[in-house]
Amino acid sequence: MMDLLIPDKTHDESRQGEALMLNAETAKNNGRKLYIESYGCAMNFSDSEIVASILAESGFETTTDHTSADVIFINTCSIRENAEQRVRNRLKEFTVTKVKNPGLVVGVLGCMAERLKSKFLEEEKLVDVVVGPDAYRDLPNLIDQVDSGQKAVNVLLSREETYADISPVRLNSNGINAFVSIMRGCDNMCSFCVVPFTRGRERSRDPLSIEAECRDLFDRGYREVTLLGQNVDSYKYSTGEDDNKITTNFADLLELVALINPDLRVRFSTSHPKDITDDVLYTINKYDNICNYIHLPVQSGNSRVLELMNRTYDREWYINRIDAIRRIIPDCAISTDVITGFCSETEEEHKDTVSMMDYVKYDFAYMFKYSERPGTLAAKRYADDIPEDVKQKRLTEIVAKQQEYSFYRMQSRIGKVERVLIEGFSKKSDKDYAGRSDQNAMVIFPVGEGYKPGEYVNVLVERSTTATLIGKVV
Ligand code: 5AD
Ligand code: SF4
Repeated sequence: MMDLLIPDKTHDESRQGEALMLNAETAKNNGRKLYIESYGCAMNFSDSEIVASILAESGFETTTDHTSADVIFINTCSIRENAEQRVRNRLKEFTVTKVKNPGLVVGVLGCMAERLKSKFLEEEKLVDVVVGPDAYRDLPNLIDQVDSGQKAVNVLLSREETYADISPVRLNSNGINAFVSIMRGCDNMCSFCVVPFTRGRERSRDPLSIEAECRDLFDRGYREVTLLGQNVDSYKYSTGEDDNKITTNFADLLELVALINPDLRVRFSTSHPKDITDDVLYTINKYDNICNYIHLPVQSGNSRVLELMNRTYDREWYINRIDAIRRIIPDCAISTDVITGFCSETEEEHKDTVSMMDYVKYDFAYMFKYSERPGTLAAKRYADDIPEDVKQKRLTEIVAKQQEYSFYRMQSRIGKVERVLIEGFSKKSDKDYAGRSDQNAMVIFPVGEGYKPGEYVNVLVERSTTATLIGKVV
C-alpha cells in the first residue's frame, strides 16, 4: 500500500498487525489469555476494542505475546488483495505456536472472515473460528464450541447491531485520543469496494450513547475523539413516533459532541462527496473544537470513471463541494483517497485526476492501485484491463504530485501559531513532544516546563518537512 502520510490514523500503516493490550484489569478472570492483532482501517481497530470488552466480560485477560496466549484472534481487512495476503502470511507464522500448544484457539475476525466465510476453514487448516463483524457478541459461545472439539463459524450480518451498549475498553491507548464508532456498514455500492459485502447494511448508533461515550472519555482525561463511519454524512437516527419523530443528522451529532466541552477536540472520518452538506460545514465552522480537517475521497477526477465507479457524483459536483468547504470554513485542511488504473481508465482520464490534485492542492492523500475484489460490481461488470506497470506509473506520478502539495501546505504554515494537543514524546526523541494542529498536521517542539501530554499549547512554526511542522511553544 502506498500511503504517503498517515495524518488521521484512519488507515494507519504503522499500526497494521499491532497487538492490542487492554489497559484495565478484567474483573473476572478465567485464567485464559487473549492475543488480538488488527489490520485495516480504524473501524477494525475500534472493533477489536469491542471484542476485547466482550471477552473481558467472560474473564479473558489480554496479552501482547502470542506465544503465551490461549486464544489468538486476527482482525482482518479485505480492501485490497495485498491486505488479505498479509493476513495469510501472518497466519502461517501462528502454525508453530499451534503445534507447540494444541489447545490454542485461532480465530479470524472481520472483513476477510465475512468475505470467505467457512471457506476459510478449508483454506487455512489451523483456523478454528471464523467470525464476521456483526457477530462478536457470540464469541464466548463460539470459543466454547471450539473447546468442545468443533470448528465454529458465525458470519451473520445484522441490520441493527451497533454494539451501542458495550462499554468501551481502550486498547493501547495514550489516554488522549479515542475512536468512537457512530455507525456501521455501508449502502453506497462503489463498484470497486468490498465493504458493503463485508460490513453489511448501513445503520447509525443512538446519538445519546455516542454522546455518553464521548463525555465519559472526556471525564477520564481524553481530549480528542474521532467519530468513525464509512460515510459519516449519511448518519441518521430517529426516535419517537410519527408526529413526534426526532431525527438526528450528522450536523446535529457533531454539535452534540462539540458541546460536551470546548477542550474536547472533535474529528470525524470518512466524509462522502455526495452527502456532505453545507449544514455540516457551517457546524464545523461554528465550533472551534470541531477540527478544520475533512477527509473527502475523490477516487478519480474524471466523470466517466466516477460513473463506472458508481460514486454518484461527477467532477463538477466534487469541485462544487471543495469550493463550498473553502467558502464556509476558511483554513480547512482537505485530504483524499485516489485509485489509479481503474478498469478502462485512459491516460487522458488519469490526467483529470492529476488536474484535480492541482485544483485542490490536498494536504494529504492515500493513493492506491486498483485491486480487483471478488464479488464487487466492478469485478462482475468490467475487465481489470490496465496493465500493472501502467497502474504503477500513474500511481508514481500522483504520489510525486502529492509530495509537492503536502510540502506546499506545510510550508504555508511557517510563521503561524498552531494550537496543538500534546500526544506524547516524538517518535525520534524524548527531548521533543509531538501533537497535532487543528488541521491535523503533526507538530514537533521541545519538551518544556509547564506543559505535558493531554494539554494544549500554542506552537510557533519555524520550519517543516513534507509530513511535520517543527517549532517552539510561545
Ligand atoms: N482497490 C484499490 N483501492 C481501493 N479502495 C477501496 N477499494 C479498493 C480497491 N478495490 C480504496 C479507496 C477507499 C480506500 C479506503 O481504499 O480509495 O477510499
Ligand atoms: Fe476496514 Fe474496509 Fe478493510 Fe473492512 S475492508 S477492515 S471496512 S478498510
